[in-house]
Amino acid sequence: MSVYFSGCFQRVFGTYPLQGQGLKSAVHTAAEVGYRAFDTAQWYGNEAALGDAIRDLGVDKDELLITTKVHPENMAADRFFASVEQSLRDLQLDAVDVLLLHWPPGDRSVEPSLSLLQEAHRRGYTKHIGVSNYTSQMMRQAVKHLDVPLVINQIEFHALLDQRRLIQASGETGIPLASYCSVARGEVFNYPIFTNIGNAHGKTAAQVALRWILQQGVSINTMSTKRVNMQSNFDIMDFVLSSVDMARIQLLTETNYRISTAQVTPYAPTWDAPLD
Ligand SMILES: NC(=O)c1ccc[n+]([C@@H]2O[C@H](COP(=O)([O-])OP(=O)(O)OC[C@H]3O[C@@H](n4cnc5c(N)ncnc54)[C@H](OP(=O)(O)O)[C@@H]3O)[C@@H](O)[C@H]2O)c1
Repeated sequence: MSVYFSGCFQRVFGTYPLQGQGLKSAVHTAAEVGYRAFDTAQWYGNEAALGDAIRDLGVDKDELLITTKVHPENMAADRFFASVEQSLRDLQLDAVDVLLLHWPPGDRSVEPSLSLLQEAHRRGYTKHIGVSNYTSQMMRQAVKHLDVPLVINQIEFHALLDQRRLIQASGETGIPLASYCSVARGEVFNYPIFTNIGNAHGKTAAQVALRWILQQGVSINTMSTKRVNMQSNFDIMDFVLSSVDMARIQLLTETNYRISTAQVTPYAPTWDAPLD
């Protein structure tokens, strides 16, 4: 079973774009709410701030799940390991729990950077390895290439985007999925269906949007600066959406609203087409 599906790690607190004191304050509030899994990246420029925040939490590091991601510019043999060693120093850890490749190399071959990731695992820099922003085809290529299992493919996943091809690939390859932009950075709140369904359960629109993700076997990353929203995003284990409500929300994926487009990031591969 993937580490993200044990205990409370199905709900990860994301740290982008938090920095400095704002990050520390948010991480401490999130820990009070109950979060024990935290997600950062070399790209976010906040690993040192997260390291300080974790040190001062008063929670045993063994109880935490810390994920970081290698920046695409560091995915060459002469930079990869030095960059991970710097991440470990910044995070004040001997090893991270999960090391991800932040982006695939566009549409180029995934094998070289996967080999570097596997070598980082062999060297003991990380307990587990994973990827982010992989397409379904890349997931299939990865399992053929690697000896070590990938514990996650962290991808944009929310109710306004059809990602059923990734769900299929996850079933085939055994690579679990985790969401980011789980409330589409607030865009889902423009659709009254979430509030309407939530009213029947005594739950918020955000909780319905997140529960819809979770019920597809996808673990969740969310970020908030507000305690009330952190609490809302955490309290999603005590209700169940009916198959009818799941299907009604699924219809919204036809919107195909994608945040991580090639315009936003030069590393974006050609994404999976929606399922017919
Ligand atoms: N792997 C990747 O390439 C990648 C890309 C993007 C993000 N990520 C990771 O995923 C994490 C989450 O993604 P994200 O932050 O981009 O998107 P997100 O979670 O969809 O959106 C965050 C925004 O939604 C608001 N929000 C959160 N919970 C809410 C709630 N219950 N009610 C109302 N508003 C709410 C927050 O505002 P308030 O502060 O006002 O609550 C914040 O502005 C990031 O922090 C990062 O760790 C990874």
